[in-house]
Amino acid sequence: MTTTMQRAEAAEHAMSEELDRIVVKSVLYTSGERDPRVPVPRPPDQGKLYLMGHDPRLPKMPDKPTLFDFFRYRFGPSAHMLQSARLAQKNGVSEKIVLACLLHDIAVAGFIRSDHGYWSAQLLEPYVDEEVSWAIRYHQVLRFFADESVGYKYPESYVKLFGADYQPEPHIQAAYRYARDHKWYMTSRLITVNDLYSFDPNVKVELEEFTDVVGRNFKQPKEGLGFDASPSSHMWRTINWPTRYL
Ligand SMILES: [Fe+2]
Ligand SMILES: [Fe+2]
Repeated sequence: MTTTMQRAEAAEHAMSEELDRIVVKSVLYTSGERDPRVPVPRPPDQGKLYLMGHDPRLPKMPDKPTLFDFFRYRFGPSAHMLQSARLAQKNGVSEKIVLACLLHDIAVAGFIRSDHGYWSAQLLEPYVDEEVSWAIRYHQVLRFFADESVGYKYPESYVKLFGADYQPEPHIQAAYRYARDHKWYMTSRLITVNDLYSFDPNVKVELEEFTDVVGRNFKQPKEGLGFDASPSSHMWRTINWPTRYL
C-alpha cells in the first residue's frame, strides 16, 4: 500500500529529477511527518551536483534584498500583519508600535511557526530599536494572558485552535511573569491588542503604505539582508535559499 507520505516523496523525486541539481530538505522541514532518526532514503545522484544556492523553483531574490523583497518573494500571505499595523495606526499608537505590529509574525509568514515570537525578534534584532524586538519576542506569550486594563481578553480563536483546556506550559508562564514586570511590557501588550485576525476582511492593505514607517525605523543594510554579517544574517540567507545543501 502506498502511503500519502510515499506518494509525496515520489512526487518530490519526480520534481527534483527535472532540476539540474539535487535538492535535499533540512531535517526540520519534515520532522514530525517523518521520524528524524530514520535515515532519508537517497537515490543514486547519477553524477548530478547538489543545490548550493538559488532554488530554481522559487522566484529569484535581488542580490541585495530588502525587507519588502522578503515580503514579496518569500513570505506567505501577510494580510494579518498589514491589518494589525493599520489597526495600530488607527488606534493612534507610536510609530515604533506600528512597526512592531507590521513585523510581529514574520517568523510564521516566512520561517518557523513554533516559538514564532522569539524567531521573529531574532531575525529583526540587528535592524530595529531594542524595544521593538523585545516587544515582538514577548507578544507570543502575552497573547495567552488577559489584561483587562487595556481590554485584552484571552482570544476566543485560541479556544477553537487549542481547546478549552489548554494551559500555557511552565516556561510560558515564567516568560509571562518576566514580561509583566518589564519596563517595555505595555509596548508588547499593545501588539497583542492590535493582533486581530482579519478585523475587516474587506480592507486591503498594501505593503507600500508602510514604506515611510519602515524607512524611518528599520535599518536596511546596504549589502542586503543576509549579506551584512549581522547576528541574524544567516537566518535571512536561509529564507532566501531554503534548500541549500550546506
Ligand atoms: Fe504572533
Ligand atoms: Fe499576530
